[in-house]
This record gives sequence, C-alpha cells and structure tokens, in this order.
Amino acid sequence: MMTDKTSQARVLIFDTTLRDGEQSPGATMTHQEKLEIAAMLDEMGVDIIEAGFPIASEGDFAAVSEIARLAKTSTICGLARANYKDIDRCWEAVKHAKSPRIHTFIGTSPLHRAIPNLDMDQMAERIHDTVTHARNLCDNVQWSPMDATRTEHDYLCRVVEIAIKAGATTINIPDTVGYTAPRESAALIRMLLERVPGADKIIFATHCHNDLGMATANSLAAVEAGARQIECTINGLGERAGNTALEEVVMAMKVRNDILPFRTAIDTTKIINISRKVATVSGFPVQFNKAIVGKNAFAHESGIHQDGMLKNAETFEIMRPTDVGLSDTSLVMGKHSGRAALRAKLRDLGYELADNQLNDVFVRFKALADRKKEVYDDDLIALVSDQETSA
Ligand code: KIV
Ligand code: ZN
Repeated sequence: MMTDKTSQARVLIFDTTLRDGEQSPGATMTHQEKLEIAAMLDEMGVDIIEAGFPIASEGDFAAVSEIARLAKTSTICGLARANYKDIDRCWEAVKHAKSPRIHTFIGTSPLHRAIPNLDMDQMAERIHDTVTHARNLCDNVQWSPMDATRTEHDYLCRVVEIAIKAGATTINIPDTVGYTAPRESAALIRMLLERVPGADKIIFATHCHNDLGMATANSLAAVEAGARQIECTINGLGERAGNTALEEVVMAMKVRNDILPFRTAIDTTKIINISRKVATVSGFPVQFNKAIVGKNAFAHESGIHQDGMLKNAETFEIMRPTDVGLSDTSLVMGKHSGRAALRAKLRDLGYELADNQLNDVFVRFKALADRKKEVYDDDLIALVSDQETSA
C-alpha cells in the first residue's frame, strides 16, 4: 500500500557515535577520523551530530570546534555537565556551527543524585541555573536527566518542567543502563507528555543503551508514544553493550512504515559505507549476523533459501541490499547450497554447463564443501576446469 510519507511525523536522528560511541573502552578515534565520520554523517542526512565532550580534553574541544566549522547541514552538538565551566567550554566549541546545540545533563535517579551529594531541591536549583545559563548562550539547548528510567516519576516530572521553563528546547530521556523495556519506555514518554506543563512545546528524545538487547525496541516504542528524536550510534557502538544502532531504527521505520509511520531524512544507501568506516576506525568489527550491516545480513547459503532467492528475492529478504548501499545479495556457496544456486553461480562466472556436466561438478562441489566452510569462486572455477580437462 502506498503511504503519503510527507504527512507522516518526522523523527529527528541524533547521532552520538563521536561522543557516546567513542566512550567505549578502546574505541578512541583520531582527529582526522572524527572529521571524516562527521562529514559522512552530515552527508547522509543526520539531523544532529553530537561531536564530543568539549571539556573532556583539548582533543575533544578541537574536534568539536572543527566539525562545527565544517558541517554543511547537520546541527552540531557538544556535551556538558551541569556546571557553568562545562557549558561555557561547550559553547566555545559549537558556536562556529551554522546550527549549534548545547547538551547539558545531570544524573537524577537516587543512585546518581548521591554522587554530587545534592538533595532533590538542590539538584532542582542546579538544573534551573545551568539550563538558564546554557539558554543565554544558545537558542538550541538539550537537557538530559541521566538514568531517567530509574528516576522517581514525580521527581522526573518536576525536573523536566524546570528544564523546560528554563529554556530547554529538547528533553532527552536516557535509559543510561539499558534497564527499561518497550512498554515502560513508551509509558514514560506518554506520562511526561501528559503530566508536564509545556511538554507539548518541546521535543522529547529517547536515548537507549543495549544492556538487555532492547535498545532498538525501546527507542521505537518511545517514538510511538510521542518522542520525536532518536539518539543512536553507527553499528550500535557505545559503552558496555552499546547504544541504539542508527541503521536498525532507521531501517525499521522504512521497512515497516505501515506500522511505524514515521519519516527520517536519512539516505539509507549510505549506511554500509559509514558502518564499515566506523568499524575500521574504532577497531570494533561488526558481528557477522548483526542486523542490517552484518556480513551475513544479506547472505544465503541453504539450498532452500538460495532456490527461493533465485525465483523471487522477497521470499527470504524483507529489504533489498541496495536499500542500504550494497550492490547485491550474496549467495554463499557451502554444503547447504543446492544445484540451482550452483548453476546460477557458475553462470555468473561465465560457465554454462550441460545437465550432465553440472551433475558431475555438483558431486565434486558437495565433497569439497564438506571439507571447507565456504567454497569460493576460485574453487568453483577449479572444479569446472578439472571437469573440462578430464572430458
Ligand atoms: O546514557 C546517558 O545517560 C548519556 C547521557 C550523557 C545523555 O549518554
Ligand atoms: Zn548514553
């Protein structure tokens, strides 16, 4: 069924590969690598790039400043804790952007409140003062109650209201430790929209971590409940089990637009290239069976699957490889492959065999596949050449 996408609610994509992603132990990127990734994010239609944490180091400050100067269309955001020094440093870095944003946060759950040793009232005052300060510097201010999903609901409503009144334009609801589940993620956004005065004037964001493998489901549930910004990273890079994967939420809204009727500005054909780039520079390889970008996400080996694919790709694929920037489906030749796939593969390699020749090659191919995990094109060529020599 054709749907009119322009009338669908727009969901902003906020990419934090360069901030939360880079925080994964061992994922540090060089200045040049950060610039290259930022350019790719900008090019693929990411709405907001969180480019770093300017107060964290001279290197982070330099990277955020330069990304801010170079960005063509994306909003450039920097992270700051809830103090004036962090916020001023963040502003110094992002202010060069055509569209700058300051993102300031503080942990609001009981466990997080204990760290700065502030009681509820003192923390509320700190939120008011720091968001006001950020808003005096920049028109675009995002505020996050860190560990929101483990914060008491009444207190969460109270501090979100304070942040909105102080001028925050986006309120991000982080599931910092990947603790929530889809129904609860949706209920939290719905509650804030219903209970907080002024909530209809700002954008709610969802920021999920993947400790229980539910980051994508939790983000989409929040969107269904009214969140209009998803925070995510390429390949789901991020601390511990990572963050919501950009490619998963974007492709879910594209492929299941019938039940997730939301639009983004992402050019999905750029997904594979940026996934490979982030894997290379971060040193975090993508698992083979990772949704959307794994090596096997569009690969088929079993005879039944390959046969189905040769007849109609939709038999075993819900999206086309070209949608994410791959040239084609890959039919992996192994012990589960059937005669039809072998014939198609050989045809691709330039060999048109008569039935009896194909039967002979097929028997030897199966024997080889029993010994080898994957039979490569060169192996197949060798099998056909052997057959030609012995004929
Ligand atoms: O996970 C988290 O709570 C964060 C905040 C800084 C937004 O990354
Ligand atoms: Zn996070």
